[in-house]
Amino acid sequence: MFAGIKEDIKTVFTKDPAARSILEVLTYPGLHALWFHRIAHRLWKRQFTTLARLVSQLSRFLTGVEIHPGAQIGRRFFIDHGMSVVIGETAVIGDDVLMYHQVTLGGTSLTHTKRHPTIGNGVLIGMGAKILGPITIGDHCKIGANAVVNKDIPDNCTVVGIPGRIIRRNGAPTNDVGVMDNTINRVDPRDDTIQELMSRIELLERHSEKLEELIERIERHEGTPHHYHPYQSEESYMGHDVHI
Ligand SMILES: CC(C)(COP(=O)(O)OP(=O)(O)OC[C@H]1O[C@@H](n2cnc3c(N)ncnc32)[C@H](O)[C@@H]1OP(=O)(O)O)[C@@H](O)C(=O)NCCC(=O)NCCS
Repeated sequence: MFAGIKEDIKTVFTKDPAARSILEVLTYPGLHALWFHRIAHRLWKRQFTTLARLVSQLSRFLTGVEIHPGAQIGRRFFIDHGMSVVIGETAVIGDDVLMYHQVTLGGTSLTHTKRHPTIGNGVLIGMGAKILGPITIGDHCKIGANAVVNKDIPDNCTVVGIPGRIIRRNGAPTNDVGVMDNTINRVDPRDDTIQELMSRIELLERHSEKLEELIERIERHEGTPHHYHPYQSEESYMGHDVHI
């Protein structure tokens, strides 16, 4: 057990350049949350589920980090800053994972099945990233701050944005391969404003066609190309008395 605690403290020094002394590191909420989780997870595995929940909720109250006691977490895991992290029941986290504040490893279904992500070894999850559903994030991936990911990601990829896009694979830039095709945070094409704008564009196109027809008629009638003003009214063109 003490070897584990020592390893956790050492991990903080390798992953947080701001860490200066052991005493300082011992105040880190990410570390407290991890240690509470170790206790809660053991209780959970021994079927003391309510007690496990109590420990996990106490941890949440004290640290702002909510890790379900059922979540499986590997070695040398570190949550920097900690606040507002949520890790779901069936999440699995590999070794050497670094996670920042406001990350969610969430579920997308209400069934009692595996519904949370599996995170590979050596993954970095930037602040505010949301990883949703029973997907797998490959080893040594980097998930950018505030990215939303709900599709599997192969090993050694960097993913950024909403929807998440793979911008780098094995160190080389990619052609912006989409990893999501849902509509989270995209403009909804059925949105009322979009519909209104589209009908106005259609109206403008019809008016423009009409104007072109009128100009052609005038030119045919007068035999010379006619200069027209785009804001001239239809009636004036119809009357053939336009001289701008
Ligand atoms: C995703 C991340 C790991 C990428 O790092 P990197 O491999 O060094 O990539 P780069 O910084 O060279 O960025 C590559 C491209 O992605 C863009 N990008 C980087 N991070 C992004 C993000 N979170 N969201 C959107 N775009 C991002 C960059 O602007 C750049 O675009 P460009 O090629 O058009 O200029 C990093 O940007 C990140 O988000 N880390 C999380 C850090 C964090 O949460 N810190 C909290 C500390 S409290």
